[in-house]
Amino acid sequence: MTANEIRDSFKKYFESKGHAIVPSAPMVVKGDPTLMFTNAGMNQFKDIFLGNAPRKYPRAADTQKCLRVSGKHNDLEEVGHDTYHHTMFEMLGNWSFGDYFKQGAIDAAWEYLVSILHLNPEDLYVTVFEGDEKEGLARDEEAAKFWRKHVPEDHIINGNKHDNFWEMGDTGPCGPCSEIHIDLRSDEERKAIPGTELVNKDHPQVIEIWNLVFMQFNRKADQSLEPLPAKVIDTGMGFERLCMALQGKTSNYDTDVFTPMIDKIAALSGKQYGEDHKVDVAMRVIADHI
Ligand code: ALA
Repeated sequence: MTANEIRDSFKKYFESKGHAIVPSAPMVVKGDPTLMFTNAGMNQFKDIFLGNAPRKYPRAADTQKCLRVSGKHNDLEEVGHDTYHHTMFEMLGNWSFGDYFKQGAIDAAWEYLVSILHLNPEDLYVTVFEGDEKEGLARDEEAAKFWRKHVPEDHIINGNKHDNFWEMGDTGPCGPCSEIHIDLRSDEERKAIPGTELVNKDHPQVIEIWNLVFMQFNRKADQSLEPLPAKVIDTGMGFERLCMALQGKTSNYDTDVFTPMIDKIAALSGKQYGEDHKVDVAMRVIADHI
């Protein structure tokens, strides 16, 4: 599938499940002093999450242009050096505003990846929040229970507050999350080290593709957690990473999202991509920034 076909299939799938398809919000955030740039698909819905604005629809989906170059979510130093982080990227997301919750989000994500996109379930791992004593939060047994319907126990991995409790910023909506990771390594590599040992270990071919956030709290300035008026689902899937998985590549930059730019940079600079590590990093940085 081409990148455009992948983007369309996401919207079509969630539209068929009753979601309003909404446009990407601008990348420069207006009217929110806690955030300079849009860093997640949920930013434009923050006031609905907090109960400060009425919901316009019970379910929505979109593809959001995001920029992660400052503040709580900052991937700038990774860009170009690795093959799967970006300054600007597209986040495919679906939301439920007090409608379906954990089970609906988990079932839909699984159906889309496995039944619609035909990813191999054996390549997929999921994480659940292990709990955090200091925050007074228990392990997310509920999410684990819903995942057991789809994946064997050894594909369900506990994650700590850093990886499995998503927060928009220093203050604002937050909640435990479940991430879906994919193992894109060769059979030989999998035999040597099982994928389960490489989840969240910065391996470039065992990467998170989708984050399902079960939004339940508002982080206040004094760091306390206040329950949200309604439970909300907020998901975000890395579009460029999904393209890598579906196009059988091992780098986002080898997908059709980036190859036209890499080819042009090569033509203009007279350098070949893939010959010299330092040049490759520079070409990826330029392609990313463009
Ligand atoms: N808001 C969540 C994220 O950005 C989905 O990962």
